Amino acid sequence: MTEERTYAALPAPGAAGIPVLGNVLDFRRDILKAMHRGHAAHGDLVRYRLGPVTVHGVSSPELAAAVLTDTDRFGKLGPDNPLRLVLGEGLLTSDDHKSWLRNRRMMQPIYTKQSLAGMFATMGVSAAEQISHMSARYRTGAALDLHQEMMRVTLDIVSRCMFSTDVSRTLAGLGPDAVDVAINYAFDRLQNPFSPPTHWPTPRNRRFHQVMRGLDDLIYRIIAERRQSPGPTGDGDLLDMLLAARDADTGKGMTDRELRDEVITTFAAGHETTAITLTWAFYLLSRHREVLRRVQREVDDVLGDELPTPENLAAMPYALRVFEEALRLYPSAPIVPRLVLRDTELGGYRVPAGSRILVNLYGIHRHPRHWPDPERFDPDRFLPDVTKGRHRFAYLPFGAGPHLCIGKHFALMEAHLLLTALVRRWEFRHVPSHRVVNHATITLRPRYGMLMTMHQRTTSAARPAQAR
Ligand code: HEM
Repeated sequence: MTEERTYAALPAPGAAGIPVLGNVLDFRRDILKAMHRGHAAHGDLVRYRLGPVTVHGVSSPELAAAVLTDTDRFGKLGPDNPLRLVLGEGLLTSDDHKSWLRNRRMMQPIYTKQSLAGMFATMGVSAAEQISHMSARYRTGAALDLHQEMMRVTLDIVSRCMFSTDVSRTLAGLGPDAVDVAINYAFDRLQNPFSPPTHWPTPRNRRFHQVMRGLDDLIYRIIAERRQSPGPTGDGDLLDMLLAARDADTGKGMTDRELRDEVITTFAAGHETTAITLTWAFYLLSRHREVLRRVQREVDDVLGDELPTPENLAAMPYALRVFEEALRLYPSAPIVPRLVLRDTELGGYRVPAGSRILVNLYGIHRHPRHWPDPERFDPDRFLPDVTKGRHRFAYLPFGAGPHLCIGKHFALMEAHLLLTALVRRWEFRHVPSHRVVNHATITLRPRYGMLMTMHQRTTSAARPAQAR
């Protein structure tokens, strides 16, 4: 086949950095601001330098579509991807297209809406327990860090969905922040090519290796136990389903190593992402009382004294739109990286093999050509009629193309459940003196947490109910 693309002669316009380091310091200080400045000055495709590495910031739906749908030209980062130190070669970090595709095909059926419906009850029990736990812990009016609370809740949910045990039993001894310690370590290395080698005995390296040994021991032990006494296939927990998954061509299942990588990937990719979007959603609700009142009315009308079920969730579309709009303004994975696999052209510019692409979801979700008044919080942007006219790649919090988030339905079901269950019982008010600054690591966290006061709602609908 002839190469139809003409090979553009010019490199993309570049954002000037300092000698040797290039744009490292700007990126470390605030990667989203640095990319926003680059976009404003140079347009949708901007070239940066992180020490020896050239990266291209992509900030338009059109270019994002070109990158994310073309796995021949734009692949996952290679073996030097620091996230591999934690996730191994699970779906998120594998750069071998063939083995990725095999595993993706094996796992896809687990994450369909239909298959996940069986997991709703587990999520519901966890949500009810976690909410009672919060009620017991905080009196009405008490201040709490909502980010920490949401992290606890979603970690418990993913832990029960994966292993059918609650998080305290799963992570006993390791500390609930083990996954975060590991991921933060890897992300720092992704952003800073001058990090000390992993085998140097620095305190941070030592802590990292200790956490990883603990996580690995734990996961391999659980896998071994489960292989010895398998649970039900079909609608058991996620581990049962992973163990039962078979390659359609060979009939073979996953090795222990593959299972370990997918389990830890699910923990890493699947708990903080949902937790922080819920945190941002409650922050936005506390600043937009009219939106909050509308969600409260919807929740009170539909739930009454009940807890959410798959059926009554469908009757609360506004709450889901709130979450979708929170994901637009604060996409929890704000930047999607790719490696350029061969010299090519993008947006009319030359993009060399070996350079990296950073698809800037945060910037795309505010692109002035696609989003009128982009900073305004307006869940009705996601009404079906409004969504219809929009560019398909203008909203991509779950990525796009073949690597589209496999946990999208899991995340939406979980977030819809938690948002409505919490709104039913509590109102969260942001503490005005608390500074809110977003901080993009691999996820988009509130840098100083999210200090809110928690107020019990007094409507009859807000009375406690038992998990069903
Ligand atoms: C609000 C919640 C979530 C957001 C915003 C989110 C976002 C994303 C994005 C942007 C990608 C694409 C990465 C890329 O193209 O390189 C992705 C991939 C992935 N996500 Fe999610 N995610 C969420 C929840 C989840 C959950 C709950 C799970 C698991 C239960 C999960 C598991 C994964 C996996 C395994 C991949 C890799 C898919 C592949 O390359 O085949 N995510 N996610």
